[in-house]
Amino acid sequence: MRKNIVLIGMMGSGKSTVGRLLAQQAGRELADTDALIEQRTGRSIPDLFAREGEAAFRALELELCRELSRREGLVIACGGGLPTQDEAIAALKENGLVFWLNRDPGKTYDSLDVSGRPLAQGGREDFLRRYEERSPVYRRWADGVALCDGGPEAAAKLIIAAYLEVCPL
Ligand code: S3P
Repeated sequence: MRKNIVLIGMMGSGKSTVGRLLAQQAGRELADTDALIEQRTGRSIPDLFAREGEAAFRALELELCRELSRREGLVIACGGGLPTQDEAIAALKENGLVFWLNRDPGKTYDSLDVSGRPLAQGGREDFLRRYEERSPVYRRWADGVALCDGGPEAAAKLIIAAYLEVCPL
């Protein structure tokens, strides 16, 4: 079985960018959970949050995770809050290796495009607090941690090497 490569981490940690690089380099399909939810609902993330609320968004995330967990050979870039739902990340971990893209939260916030990110509207302190809250959650689910301060290429290289150690071709 070709286990999925699952990327978790804060908003702006580089999951989508690293995911694209991994997908290119490993010749795999990229499943970006936020992009899939937007595609399927025909709504943007801010619109979903504003009209339906966060709980409805999380329910869509969970449903998608259950579906993706039945597939293999994917690179899955998760929305930043997805691992806060045990059932969602547990489903992805069933047939995936999970990597936490960790990056200095202050630098992440300073380079973050907050538009389109409803949970990044509370300012820098709020973002740092959320990072502290979520770090133990990311750590708990991660099979490996990639420090992203060296840029997305370095992180992608590290993840491929770690993946191949556990799942050789
Ligand atoms: C969220 C992160 C977002 C998106 C939603 C909620 C979060 O994804 O899923 O706005 O709870 O951290 P990115 O991590 O891709 O920004």
